Amino acid sequence: MKTPHLKPGPPPPARWRKEIESVLVNSERLACRVRQLSRAIQRDFAGKDLAVVSVLNGTVFFLPDLIRHVSLPLRLDFIGISSYGSSAQSGNLVMTKDLRLDIRGRDVLVVDDILDTGRTLSRILERLRGSGALTVKTCVLLNKPERRTVNVQADYVGFTIPDCFVVGYGLDYAECFRNLPFIGVLRKEVYAGHFQ
Ligand code: IMP
Ligand code: MG
Repeated sequence: MKTPHLKPGPPPPARWRKEIESVLVNSERLACRVRQLSRAIQRDFAGKDLAVVSVLNGTVFFLPDLIRHVSLPLRLDFIGISSYGSSAQSGNLVMTKDLRLDIRGRDVLVVDDILDTGRTLSRILERLRGSGALTVKTCVLLNKPERRTVNVQADYVGFTIPDCFVVGYGLDYAECFRNLPFIGVLRKEVYAGHFQ
């Protein structure tokens, strides 16, 4: 499945122009691409004992849109990993919620919002691989390959994006903007001094 590479697009609706520079993915494009990912997952995991492990909190929109169209009897649990430090930079990783589901012998699909440096996903993979899963695959809505510092790749990727800080459709800056129905590029003035 070919991953679309995105460039920043048109300005956002007037209400958001102060904070958001441009729209990277609008809601129609998000819906269409998430539907394609659902179909790929449905096809690849048919007949398997699928356990979806979703990473809190950035998957709050992506996860339900993704799995509601996967017609398989999958199990679902959540894992929480947060980076403490400044809001737009990866600081120290702390596990805020551990997995409760028994994933022994199951085919696990980890769902996260964005693959940036790769530190979060590789920490989660380490945690899951020690739990007896049969296979562990990964699905991220966004991939920012230019920022990678850890060698980790995702099996399912919604969009490849340039090196810019994005918010909306679950993604936040300092817990703000998760509710935007589109993915937008945050203006540098909003996070000035916190992100390089
Ligand atoms: P990584 O550990 O650097 O790969 O970062 C992964 C986490 O950082 C994601 O799950 C997000 O919570 C956060 N993150 C990275 N880039 C962005 C961004 O552009 N906008 C919002 N959150 C981001
Ligand atoms: Mg996150």
